[in-house]
Amino acid sequence: MNSARPRTNLHSVAMPESFAVGVLPELGVVPARMDAWVIRKERFGEPIQSFQRESMEVPEVGPNEVLVQVMAAGVNYNGIWAGLGKPVSVLDVHKKDFHIAGSDASGVVWKVGSAVTKWKVGDEVVLHCNQSCGECGACNGGDPMACEEQKIWGYETPYGSFAQFCVVQGQQLLKKPPAMTWEEAASYGLTYFTAYRMIVDQAAVKPGENVLIWGASGGLGVFATQLVKMMGARAICVVSSAEKGELVKQLGADGIINRKDFPGLAFKPNETPEQHKARMDATKKLGKAIWEVIGEKKGPDVVFEHVGQETFPASIFLANRFGRIVICGATTGFDLTFDVRHLWMRQKTIIGSHFANAEQCQRANHLIHRGQIKPVLTETFTYDEIPLAHDKMMKNQLRGTVSCLVGTPRLGLTNWKETVAAV
Ligand SMILES: NC(=O)c1ccc[n+]([C@@H]2O[C@H](COP(=O)([O-])OP(=O)(O)OC[C@H]3O[C@@H](n4cnc5c(N)ncnc54)[C@H](OP(=O)(O)O)[C@@H]3O)[C@@H](O)[C@H]2O)c1
Repeated sequence: MNSARPRTNLHSVAMPESFAVGVLPELGVVPARMDAWVIRKERFGEPIQSFQRESMEVPEVGPNEVLVQVMAAGVNYNGIWAGLGKPVSVLDVHKKDFHIAGSDASGVVWKVGSAVTKWKVGDEVVLHCNQSCGECGACNGGDPMACEEQKIWGYETPYGSFAQFCVVQGQQLLKKPPAMTWEEAASYGLTYFTAYRMIVDQAAVKPGENVLIWGASGGLGVFATQLVKMMGARAICVVSSAEKGELVKQLGADGIINRKDFPGLAFKPNETPEQHKARMDATKKLGKAIWEVIGEKKGPDVVFEHVGQETFPASIFLANRFGRIVICGATTGFDLTFDVRHLWMRQKTIIGSHFANAEQCQRANHLIHRGQIKPVLTETFTYDEIPLAHDKMMKNQLRGTVSCLVGTPRLGLTNWKETVAAV
């Protein structure tokens, strides 16, 4: 990382064409163009291929919108799906010929739209990634996640956070925890707020319940584990290595199960009768390991799902009578196969969940400000390494959450004043 980047003196320059990544202009001076990592249809594929650096126009700011100078950007699966063009091409959703991914950021408010009253240039913020119309019944008294125009910023919208600037709706801004570094503040939004809605509101986990958490050391999992503990329930954490097990132990896991101890557990399409039997045997063995953690012959009250095809039949089978399976993703495949008899005979419920609304994000962010929930930033990448960070995520080589430095010149800086002084 270059810790001695030049700072331009722009007093005499009304509208600079652009400035280099890491150069900090005067607060509020908006250049015409910016550096960005851009996905285009012709290079859909794995992150190293799909993400390419380009010079792009700085987006216009609408009345309800805010331009944010990105100091650090968080990495999550949205960028991988966008770059793959699967399961949908997001460029067909927002109808632009480019896509700048990135649904997590910390940064500085750089310009505010005419209707934005609660924020001003210079405010230090983190962003949540839900957009909605702000005018319909769902947005006014209901749940904005039910708005017909609901979109995930940085996925279904073109100007995400892997760029010097991003444009967001004013309602997406949240106060950045003042003592937290830019990179840590950029790391938690998408996965934490998603896990919050799943655990607190959708599954409504109760004290004393048992919760099985797949991928407990991953982006969603580290927050699900902390939230389950905070709510007085028991966290039964599934991981795939001793190192990952160590991480969830530090977060308070009550039981740690290594899924590698259960070969044959993963569902594969077109399985033979022998494979089916081996899978059911492995699933029952896993069930017994869960009984041991719980201390009696009962399954988890809640299963925290996002793995999808490979684990979903086990999630349905393992959940206790009247259990809830709450799901927000399907990393291993979207076509889910399961034996529905286990669902109806034992009266279980499948609950779909998607990100979170602004009120839930605010509630969740308060817990971060108070230190009751902690970000679990395990690695920080440079701006040049943004495709690499996504590649490692796709290969399941990361733990917790990771972020990338964008405007901030080095690790460890917490606010604009300190950052300008460091350049
Ligand atoms: N709808 C939404 O709002 C929303 C929000 C956030 C994320 N998501 C989705 O949720 C998924 C996970 O996101 P994330 O940020 O937590 O990703 P992540 O940080 O990569 O973590 C995923 C975890 O899944 C586990 N895993 C991977 N393959 C597995 C398999 N075959 N069987 C069992 N476990 C497996 C891994 O843990 P082990 O290898 O240790 O088991 C890994 O730690 C992604 O598909 C993402 O798109 C959806």
